[in-house]
Amino acid sequence: MRKIYVFDTTLRDGEQSPGVNLNTREKVEIAYQLEKLGIDRMEAGFPAASPGDLAAVNAVAKAVKDVTVIGLSRSRETDIEAVRQALQGAQDPCIHIFLATSPIHRKHKLRMDKKQVLETAQSSIRYAKKYFSKVEFSLEDAGRTELDFVAEMVGMAIREGASVVNIPDTVGYLNPAEYGAIFKYVKENVPDVEKIQLSAHCHNDLGMATANTLAAIQNGADQIEGTINGIGERAGNTAIEEVAMALATRQEFFNATTSLKLSEIARTSRLVSKLTGMVVPGNKAIVGANAFAHESGIHQDGMLKEKTTYEIMTPESIGLKESKLVLGKHSGRHAFREKLDELGYKLEDQQLNNAFAKFKELADKKKEVSDDDLLALLEERLIDTPEVFKLETIYVTYGNESVPTAKVHILKEENQVIIEEAEGNGSVDAIYNAIDKATQEEVRLEDYSIKSVSQGKDALGEVHVVLAQNDIAAQGRGLSTDILEASARAYVDAVNKLIEKRNTL
Ligand code: KIV
Ligand code: ZN
Repeated sequence: MRKIYVFDTTLRDGEQSPGVNLNTREKVEIAYQLEKLGIDRMEAGFPAASPGDLAAVNAVAKAVKDVTVIGLSRSRETDIEAVRQALQGAQDPCIHIFLATSPIHRKHKLRMDKKQVLETAQSSIRYAKKYFSKVEFSLEDAGRTELDFVAEMVGMAIREGASVVNIPDTVGYLNPAEYGAIFKYVKENVPDVEKIQLSAHCHNDLGMATANTLAAIQNGADQIEGTINGIGERAGNTAIEEVAMALATRQEFFNATTSLKLSEIARTSRLVSKLTGMVVPGNKAIVGANAFAHESGIHQDGMLKEKTTYEIMTPESIGLKESKLVLGKHSGRHAFREKLDELGYKLEDQQLNNAFAKFKELADKKKEVSDDDLLALLEERLIDTPEVFKLETIYVTYGNESVPTAKVHILKEENQVIIEEAEGNGSVDAIYNAIDKATQEEVRLEDYSIKSVSQGKDALGEVHVVLAQNDIAAQGRGLSTDILEASARAYVDAVNKLIEKRNTL
């Protein structure tokens, strides 16, 4: 069986999704989980984009051990230098250089002819090879590039010593037959092509990213690039979990496999969704909430008689477990520890005490604490932002015929209690106005979303907000059985992250 290498770009192409703004700790947290998932290569960011990006790539490079860490670079020396700096301390560093090759990009974006494109890429790879033994080169918009020019560029990259050459469908334009044909052509026409790995990188503008990636595998691609949950620019990238599960479920057809630990898929998906604030649609393949749900009577009847009637893969295979233990307010520490074991969490004593205290607080408000509630609580504790402001209490008055008002008590670092009141167009607006008065930070609310973590009237609500100040942005999350409290917590969390970001610039 052929091994297909998995190049994850959740932290780079995925982070380019509108509204996503991960800070360094969040990136490192995702990186650890990607390592657990068993990906081979991880693109941690684009170091030349900003000092913050460079620092985040460096933090990821130092954190993970068993994964090749990659930094993206345009075909220019200053970018290559930024990647060099960012990957210091990486166990297995690799640089990813790209240059657009299609006629549209050559004419309108680069204003270069073919010869100039070839020479620019060539000198960049040559420069990078002085410092990196592993270089990946990407022909941006290869999908709309003349086939003979694709072959010429791949040949040049091989001669210059690239180890991987990527042939992206940057704008998600191709169909599987066309995309597969490019790989076939390159395999058959480029001398020494067996010396490198060919990589597939697809975007999902026409909903064909996974199909195109699989077509590339069938036609000789050695590596696939994608993101968790398919997040990314515009309609997103290939969803890695979809390709991995397609190869696993249809092994007899593809005769190819990845090294992914499939049972980590659900947890990775949940973490990425939580930290990016990008909600996974219920009907999303593999990781959507309904992916293993059976609603119609006929299907349920079939499932009860024999699961394979309607289930081509099991929920357990991606790490979804049916719970045996239900926790509530009478559950003790022992049951709590057992449950964490069942969910795959191993906590140190102090962490366990903190988590148990949080659980007890929640169990006082909720009759049954579901696995989803617990996971939300545990994952919330993974990342601690330094708290300049801490929300102590909120009071809201609301009536459909009166102006909503909110009063907040906020603790400032040096234990200074600030109490402020404000009105608003609605309860959340009033709370946010009161927090603004208390923090005296001028921020713009760019995005607000709310979702329920579990079912029922007493479900936990999770709020995600994005705040901006001048040209920096930060996201915050808040969790509570009360949506107003969750909204306030998310806002204060985002203010703290914004301040942290501003201070590190
Ligand atoms: O889609 C694309 O072409 C890219 C390149 C930078 C590889 O993301
Ligand atoms: Zn891309």
